[in-house]
Amino acid sequence: MSITTQAELAGMKRISEAVGYTLRQMTAYAKPGMSTKELDEYGRAQLETYGAKSAPKLTYGFPGWTCISVNNEVAHGIPSATTILEEGDLVNIDVSAELEGFWADNGGSFVLGKDRQQLDPLVQASKEILHRAINNIKDGVRIADIGRLIETEARKRGLKVIKNLVGHGVGRALHEAPHEIPCYYDRFNRGRFRKNSVIALETFISTGSSLAHDKGDGWTLVTKDGSFVAQHEHTLVVTEGKPLVLTSANGI
Ligand code: CO
Ligand code: CO
Repeated sequence: MSITTQAELAGMKRISEAVGYTLRQMTAYAKPGMSTKELDEYGRAQLETYGAKSAPKLTYGFPGWTCISVNNEVAHGIPSATTILEEGDLVNIDVSAELEGFWADNGGSFVLGKDRQQLDPLVQASKEILHRAINNIKDGVRIADIGRLIETEARKRGLKVIKNLVGHGVGRALHEAPHEIPCYYDRFNRGRFRKNSVIALETFISTGSSLAHDKGDGWTLVTKDGSFVAQHEHTLVVTEGKPLVLTSANGI
């Protein structure tokens, strides 16, 4: 969406606070021995305190309130009573929701407890690259150039990017124009960021694979070679200067 009134900005701030708060609370609540279903139910309760509704459930009929992806799962992991979190797991929680007709999207990967798989550098890289990308977005900047920045920053750290998962416009629906904000330089992408438009910018930084594949459950995307992917995502408003990051309250 493109924000044209103060009321629209206020609406986007409310839903962004709800998803940011829910993500922050869920990240703190996750513990070894907990099922991802239990973590998701906790997230549901946080969203409900705001009166917010799960975006993937509303939009796609996703079987959960939030997406929780563990280890070689890249995205859209289904919360499950049989997926038990373990110390050192790479966990990604992606919270997107709707409130009063406004939609926001916020996600983040973290290592649960002790870093047994030496994945903190991957997580830190993803966070840093997201910040750097955000700081380079303003009115008129080419979407392809932000993709190039993300890919270049990953390569500098010996990392790759996932090419078939992308950021996107958001605001009046979960996924809106611009429909593809890739993490690499796509020379065919002629789009530009525009002042007042609301976007969900997300990194998909990988230790090896460049593609996410269907796991076979209809939702979950995985790497085939067992490589790990960290994702961080913020909803923001493009301006003529630094973007207004609406979901930044979670500190990611
Ligand atoms: Co998301
Ligand atoms: Co998103």
